[in-house]
Amino acid sequence: MQVEGGRTAAAVSTTAGAGWRIPLHRTTRLGSELRYLAEALQGESLAADGVFSARAERVLQLRLGAPVRLTPSGTSALELCALGLDLQPGDEVILPSFTFPSTANAFVLRGAVPVFIDVDPKTLCLDPRAAEAAITPRTRALVAVHYGGVACDLDRLGALVAQHEGVALVEDAAHALGSSWRGRPLGSFGSVAAFSFHATKNLGCGEGGALVVNERRRLARIEMLRDKGTDRARFRRGEVARYQWRELGGSHGLGELGAAVLLAQLEHLDRVTARRRALHARYHDGLRELEASGHVTLLHPPAAAQGNGHVCALLAATERERDRLRAGLAAAGIEAAPHYEPLHASPFGRSVGRCAGSLRVTEGAASRLLRLPLHHTVQDGEVDEVVERVRMLLRGGGLAGRA
Ligand SMILES: Cc1ncc(COP(=O)(O)O)c(C=O)c1O
Repeated sequence: MQVEGGRTAAAVSTTAGAGWRIPLHRTTRLGSELRYLAEALQGESLAADGVFSARAERVLQLRLGAPVRLTPSGTSALELCALGLDLQPGDEVILPSFTFPSTANAFVLRGAVPVFIDVDPKTLCLDPRAAEAAITPRTRALVAVHYGGVACDLDRLGALVAQHEGVALVEDAAHALGSSWRGRPLGSFGSVAAFSFHATKNLGCGEGGALVVNERRRLARIEMLRDKGTDRARFRRGEVARYQWRELGGSHGLGELGAAVLLAQLEHLDRVTARRRALHARYHDGLRELEASGHVTLLHPPAAAQGNGHVCALLAATERERDRLRAGLAAAGIEAAPHYEPLHASPFGRSVGRCAGSLRVTEGAASRLLRLPLHHTVQDGEVDEVVERVRMLLRGGGLAGRA
């Protein structure tokens, strides 16, 4: 099971069901959501591809420099991407085991075999050396999951796909809106890229997502696949007299209410990103001493990868210490959570996928990682308190005696 920051039985019992004093996430609300929702409700249609969708897509398009289509979720954006790659049964898709099931499901739904590889210990993003070693004549795609909004090494992954004709680079940028690699926005590197606007992301409309189509030759087809396999997008633009069912497709459009909330939030993306980056830096400043003393390990991306403060994670020395730290924080009303359980070790992952190489870093991260509360409304004083409690629990014997 993924631990999405939801309450564990232990945590609920320590906070008497009254909610966390300092939760891991808080739903983002930035100001104009209600006004835009009221406008949307008074509009002509609440279906996909209305006025608010067009406006939100334009904002994203301006940032990313390529056409964007909104989807009902990040999962749905990945499914649309997999449909567009025309995968055949037995084709292989390389992805990190340390990710959300959606990254793999999308390709398995098309009959492809997920090939699970390890991640880089400095970022927990796909390890380019492992990716290179995993390529076979059946490889059709390499999925770069930008964990916690931090870029994979896109120089090396870009070079790798350039050397292998027929292998597409796909960005799972679910966490990564507002992040960049060498100053260029994440989501603009892959032939396509998927974003998530789930409630736990930096910007969210409850459930939502987007697909960026950087390889423009794919756009017309993606539009059809997104709209039940029909050419309705062309019909709306007046390019054809009627629309028809032309191939296998799905329903991957976001309704106007979601798009209205998303637009309201997109207008504040830079402010939210700046605040999250500042909070992330504050955590790292506070935790540096514990890192120097060997109590925790922090992630250290290269300078080329500018993050968006989506996740602040530490790795404890052992799984037992991580679990005790989590329980100690929960007792103080502070929600902290592990992240992904490795897909290669999950019941379904074992039955449909295969591993390439060692997954040592992935297994270490799954057992020792703990995410700390990070959202744009966390106060500096709350970060300081979390750091202080982590310090007390790890150093001051605060864990002693807790089972
Ligand atoms: C790496 C990754 N990819 C894809 C998704 C799926 O996004 P969504 O929840 O919007 O479907 C998630 C969800 O958190 C994720 O963490």
